Amino acid sequence: TWTTGSIVEEQVAAIRAQVGTRRAICALSGGVDSAVAAALVNRAIGDQLTCVYVDHGLMRKGETEQVEKDFVAATGARLRLVDASERFLTALKGVSDPEQKRKIIGREFIRVFEQAQAELIAEAGAAGEDVAFLVQGTLYPDVVESGGGTGTANIKSHHNVGGLPEDIEFELVEPLRQLFKDEVRMVGQELGLPDEIVQRQPFPGPGLGIRIVGEVTRERLDLLREADAIVREELTAAGLDREIWQCPVVLLADVRSVGVQGDGRTYGHPVVLRPVTSEDAMTADWSRLPYDLLARISTRITNEVRDVNRVILDITSKPPGTIEWE
Ligand code: XMP
Repeated sequence: TWTTGSIVEEQVAAIRAQVGTRRAICALSGGVDSAVAAALVNRAIGDQLTCVYVDHGLMRKGETEQVEKDFVAATGARLRLVDASERFLTALKGVSDPEQKRKIIGREFIRVFEQAQAELIAEAGAAGEDVAFLVQGTLYPDVVESGGGTGTANIKSHHNVGGLPEDIEFELVEPLRQLFKDEVRMVGQELGLPDEIVQRQPFPGPGLGIRIVGEVTRERLDLLREADAIVREELTAAGLDREIWQCPVVLLADVRSVGVQGDGRTYGHPVVLRPVTSEDAMTADWSRLPYDLLARISTRITNEVRDVNRVILDITSKPPGTIEWE
């Protein structure tokens, strides 16, 4: 019989056979797939695995702590956290174009990750150990989509540390290759990962960087993080997390409108709520959230988030609107 427990046992045995006594690296993104892949590999080889988490400063409230504390508490995995938020903000300075933002965030991510990787390899090398594997949370649908290929990742090292070769070749460990998303969640649960990680809704790699329409600054990120946290809290309290595919909260940073708050006139920013229902993100419909829930969200955001004086509801389906605003 094909139970979640037997999937775990089978994969643990396969990973041990593949990796042997060598070492592996896994990039954690904060998402479900990389967390479950890492937890599985950790179950199999323990301290031979090092997880690397690059904090680009574009995560939502509490998400980095979830990786840093909850993931580590649940798995006992060895984690290296790289705080690169300053570097990402500097690279994003003055940039408003969405594709430009994506390119910059992607490029910086690779650079930071490769630097961490090179340091790990150098340290392992000094201890006479060989880092030969890269763990990836590839799922069955990704395998089908890309034609079923597997094998190695060739990673260019821009940051040579201690005389590493220019190209580092890793063998891939992909323990989720036969699984669908719902099975990955069950495996995660079986491995003791908390619901906040296992049931997490999709969140884009570039994070809040593509939810600020306009330039990304620390102040704007802080503001958006507060508004987003309120929305997530209220949706969870209303029991709607499973029903809603995701609910981007978007800051229209270059737009201001007049409001009246507290002692007088304000000139603040609007935030947009984008709650959608969807099967696969290819198409989506806007969620018919209850009016009293929308009212509570609106009241809380305008009361609790400085500089936000208007809450807008996006009622566009996809197509023609995409889920994200950028
Ligand atoms: P759109 O906005 O194209 O989004 O309707 C479809 C799904 O993809 C996510 N998304 C991204 N995920 N990097 C990602 O990893 C990206 O640049 C990106 N842009 C959109 C989005 O959140 C939705 O789930």
